[in-house]
Amino acid sequence: MTLAIRTEDLVKDYGDVRALDGLSLEVEQGEFFGLLGPNGAGKTTFINTLVGLARATGGTAEVFGHDVADDYREARNRIGLAPQEFNVDRFFPIREVLEHKAGYHGVPPAEASERADEALRTVGIYDKRDTRFDWLSGGMKRRFLLARALVTDPDLLILDEPTAGVDVELRRDLWELIERLNAGGTTILLTTHYIEEAERLCDRVAIMDEGRRVEVATPDELRARGTDTVRLTLAQRPAAVPSAVRAIDGVQDATLDGDGLSVTAAGGGRVAPDLMRTLEDAGHRVVDIDIRRASLEEVFVAMTRRDEGGDGAENGHDAEREIAAADGGLHDE
Ligand SMILES: Nc1ncnc2c1ncn2[C@@H]1O[C@H](COP(=O)(O)OP(=O)(O)O)[C@@H](O)[C@H]1O
Ligand SMILES: [Mg+2]
Repeated sequence: MTLAIRTEDLVKDYGDVRALDGLSLEVEQGEFFGLLGPNGAGKTTFINTLVGLARATGGTAEVFGHDVADDYREARNRIGLAPQEFNVDRFFPIREVLEHKAGYHGVPPAEASERADEALRTVGIYDKRDTRFDWLSGGMKRRFLLARALVTDPDLLILDEPTAGVDVELRRDLWELIERLNAGGTTILLTTHYIEEAERLCDRVAIMDEGRRVEVATPDELRARGTDTVRLTLAQRPAAVPSAVRAIDGVQDATLDGDGLSVTAAGGGRVAPDLMRTLEDAGHRVVDIDIRRASLEEVFVAMTRRDEGGDGAENGHDAEREIAAADGGLHDE
């Protein structure tokens, strides 16, 4: 089957800044794919390259087999994008904005109206259809961006940090909605800062840093690479860590911790029985045991850790505003 997204050695330079540095990625049709990375990693640049808002300096990118530069129209018409920043025609009723968007992608007028209504209903703001974008609340603006991405009935839905700054309730709503779309066959590419979101929603995630791909795996596989912590409470506080504990296969470290021990290991569940046995053999009585699994977040942080002082937040933000000016194409979205 044709891949939904296929990029090979994708490079994007902005002057001296290499935003994408040889990025190769494959996303299958129907996948729920997450793109994780610290601020400035190149996530938005990657997306902008796919939708034609940025031109790659090198390498290739295809969407459903269409080259994003040579077959721009074909590729672009398959994609619905909810961008990170608001970029909406503010002066028209939102329903008209949607009709116009659908028309721009080749949908005939009568059908465009139906699609607009349907998209507004899907995201739950149909009763606001005659309102200008400016007058919507922050949460409704987010919903609207999703409606606009959906109005062309895309095969690939790209969401660039769709839940940044939204309240918990809206986040749950959006999750439910995109899960439903994905169950209906829509391929999803989601970038997010919320690891919990990636963990819960994504089939696979790519971790990227400094324009490169660090890893691609399922959330479970990634978590399995992290370090678990096994906390053992003993009936009597030990004077020292029994030396046999550190000798157990898989144990990385063991320290005294209050009335017990804290043991770190690659697989907490695997070492737990050996730990219990070893401690009992050494004359201790284990009264409680608690295994805390590594979170995807810890694994993520370990994989993308860099020197202190590398600020990303502000860079990343400025970057997106500059894109609007540099490529002059955001009116399309
Ligand atoms: N239009 C631009 N002009 C100059 N530099 C840019 C531009 N867009 C992005 N960059 C730079 O490219 C890098 C990647 O940015 P971006 O793709 O926005 O990362 P992310 O979305 O992962 O936070 C950053 O160093 C950013 O400053
Ligand atoms: Mg971004």
